[in-house]
Amino acid sequence: MDIYELIKNRVSIRAYKTDSVPLETVKRIVQAAGMAPSWGNKQCWRFVIVDSHVVKNIMGQASGQPNIAKACEEAPYVIALCANAKESGVKNGMEYYLFDSALAMQNLVLAAQAEGLSTCIIGWFDEKAVRGVLNVPDGFKVVAYTPLGYSNEEVLPRKRKKLEETVFRNHWGKTCE
Ligand SMILES: Cc1cc2nc3c(=O)[nH]c(=O)nc-3n(C[C@H](O)[C@H](O)[C@H](O)COP(=O)(O)O)c2cc1C
Repeated sequence: MDIYELIKNRVSIRAYKTDSVPLETVKRIVQAAGMAPSWGNKQCWRFVIVDSHVVKNIMGQASGQPNIAKACEEAPYVIALCANAKESGVKNGMEYYLFDSALAMQNLVLAAQAEGLSTCIIGWFDEKAVRGVLNVPDGFKVVAYTPLGYSNEEVLPRKRKKLEETVFRNHWGKTCE
């Protein structure tokens, strides 16, 4: 599939079918996530593939968002992305483990899209509750998680800012015309 089509068609999905997805497909998606570039190729990320109903439900509840709680309950998987800040770099006051994690997560959501599956990155959650149920060791943070499965809603691509608002040429504020 054309990469631009894939990017344009991806949307965050918050309602899922309970239909199963082969574990092999999920592993392929997570492997694609791990192909992302990272600071010094340190690959500070770890993924937890969750298909236990009990664990999925706790993760959904930890979001405090009723639609996300339902999504985590219904989707056959929830994938957690954890990262060790110390395995990545800090420069100019920026902690690059978040950058590395975001790249991995973007690979993950696009690979899922290529498999005909949907996702919704969740960043608003009770981290203590999630790390507790996943048994995440000290040093690692749970950065985000996503339900993974077949969409059960029709969502049009959401609007983005105009190009001239976000893309400049040579100097800030100069349009790229
Ligand atoms: C870092 C991050 C955290 C997010 N956290 C949440 C969340 O907690 N709950 C939620 O419903 N959506 C969450 N989202 C999804 C965004 O709301 C969504 O990507 C945005 O509205 C654009 O919509 P789209 O993904 O359909 O293009 C998050 C997205 C990102 C990148």
